[in-house]
Amino acid sequence: MNRRTRLLLLLAVVATFVCPAVAFGLGTPVQPGSATAAGFLPSSGCACHAARVTEWSTSMHAKSIVDTVFLTKVGEAQAEAGDSVAIFCKRCHSPIGNMTGDPNASASQVAKEGVTCMFCHQVTGLIGVPGNVDQLVDASLIRRAQLTNPAAPHPAAYSKLHESAEFCGGCHNVNHPTNGVHLESTYAEWKAGPYAAEGTVCQDCHMSSAPGVIGPSTGTACQGGAQRDNIFAMSFVGANVGQGPAEASTALLKRAATVELDIPGIVAEGTSATVTVTVSNTGAGHYLPTGLTEVRQMWLSVYVEREDGGKTTLGERRFGTVMKDAKGAYPAEMWNAAGVQSDDRIPPRGSISASYSFTMPSTAERAKVVAALLYKSVPDDLAAKANVENPTTEMAVSSRTVFVSAAAKGTASGTAEPIESTGKPGSVLPFVAGAVVLVVIGVIVGLRGRAHKDKTSLT
Ligand code: HEC
Ligand code: HEC
Ligand code: HEC
Ligand code: HEC
Repeated sequence: MNRRTRLLLLLAVVATFVCPAVAFGLGTPVQPGSATAAGFLPSSGCACHAARVTEWSTSMHAKSIVDTVFLTKVGEAQAEAGDSVAIFCKRCHSPIGNMTGDPNASASQVAKEGVTCMFCHQVTGLIGVPGNVDQLVDASLIRRAQLTNPAAPHPAAYSKLHESAEFCGGCHNVNHPTNGVHLESTYAEWKAGPYAAEGTVCQDCHMSSAPGVIGPSTGTACQGGAQRDNIFAMSFVGANVGQGPAEASTALLKRAATVELDIPGIVAEGTSATVTVTVSNTGAGHYLPTGLTEVRQMWLSVYVEREDGGKTTLGERRFGTVMKDAKGAYPAEMWNAAGVQSDDRIPPRGSISASYSFTMPSTAERAKVVAALLYKSVPDDLAAKANVENPTTEMAVSSRTVFVSAAAKGTASGTAEPIESTGKPGSVLPFVAGAVVLVVIGVIVGLRGRAHKDKTSLT
């Protein structure tokens, strides 16, 4: 072997190990210059799939690069950490912009469409562990999806990858570009949880015919096409009620969790009782909340509903993550994150219980104790900067009316709505606001540890 042959052989071996799929020519990674805009069609080119286009256009995928919440945060990232960070952010929110050397996604319609049809449908593989836009893309206008016999008027092919959670994981695992800290871990959370083991994938919950329906439905892939039993919606319903499909997102949030409230039925006036609240993640295939959990707002509010309609808070608890920077200061923005300061979330099919103290006021005969799980996409100050709607959604609620005595309870049992019908307005006012969160029982430390271990092993 001469030197030149040895060098070529060495290069071939390195290419095979470093990047097997590229070596075998299955597509090109998402990087500047790897495609031209002509390698993709905008959604208007998919008129045959009009229903799919309507579904997708309401989704956050269609808005990912024009979303003002995203652009506000990228603006801050760019000002603090420079252009390279902004390019990293936009690479996922507009992969076609990145590939076509147009990082701001201003030069072509396909780039402006963010996570659009022809990006997803030209993905052919993944490089290694899913995350940070590690897809391989074959921009040759062959549409790939789950249909084994696509009978389309355009080039089309079957793709097993499109039926898998790994397909979504290529973007729904976000790691810090320089230190690898997990900024979003939806795929890793799913992978470590019970739904992966059962074979229920992202598509089953986020692309089904309606929120709460799991799996494909019957229908046609395009107008006038053959009836099929494995059709999916391009709706990508999530939790963004303000900017995404409002009704469907609200319905999905209401399917995600349950709240149970336990308190003795009779509490003598002036004495205390313990309210135990258990929040369970019954519907999400990943942690609750998931995704951008340092920004998302999900919290439990336990309160007494006064007869004047007001509320006296017994306690509140936020579920989410807090990032810290390299000096240990927190909360840190995602681009400064060097570690996780705290992680208080509920794993798939897991529960968290918390106890609060309740004192029956001496002036009341009864009191209605309520526990509500609430969600909004972003803090109000960020929503205001980005000029978007940011409604609060009640995901789950549970309440119980407590009486001072068996006699009071007996009197009330004759009326339909005991709490609203009698009693002096404001009679439960003496409740002390924030009456002290007592203990957090049964935190699922074990399960969380497992997910963390899995997340670490994924880098
Ligand atoms: C985020 C990626 C993504 C985007 C964006 C996307 N799709 Fe899909 N699409 C998929 C996946 C994944 C499947 C297969 C689902 C499965 O089998 O689990 C699919 C399936 C399909 C199918 C096959 C038949 C069916 O309806 O199930 C058609 C047709 C389709 N998509 C059209 C479109 C059109 C048109 C758009 C744009 C308006 C679009 N898709 C946007 C990922 C995407
Ligand atoms: C090319 C990258 C990419 C791929 C592939 C991708 N996503 Fe996304 N997805 C995003 C981005 C970016 C956003 C956030 C857009 C925003 O809010 O600005 C998002 C948002 C979402 C949301 C909405 C979240 C909310 O807050 O309501 C859901 C649900 C979702 N994706 C599901 C999926 C599923 C299921 C798949 C696989 C079939 C998938 N995604 C594949 C990049 C991607
Ligand atoms: C068993 C059903 C189920 C499966 C499987 C599932 N999800 Fe979800 N997902 C939900 C529900 C319910 C919600 C709404 C509650 C929430 O925000 O977590 C949700 C929310 C989301 C959100 C929005 C989170 C937010 O607060 O902004 C994203 C993004 C998402 N899922 C992506 C995925 C991806 C990617 C996968 C696969 C790796 C997946 N989901 C698997 C049910 C599921
Ligand atoms: C590898 C893909 C990827 C990269 C890189 C990425 N994101 Fe995202 N981003 C997502 C996904 C997926 C979601 C949706 C998750 C969810 O719903 O919680 C999202 C959602 C967001 C949102 C919430 C938008 C809304 O309307 O609520 C903001 C803000 C955001 N990203 C900012 C950034 C910034 C800033 C960077 C760069 C530092 C960045 N992203 C880099 C994938 C990515």
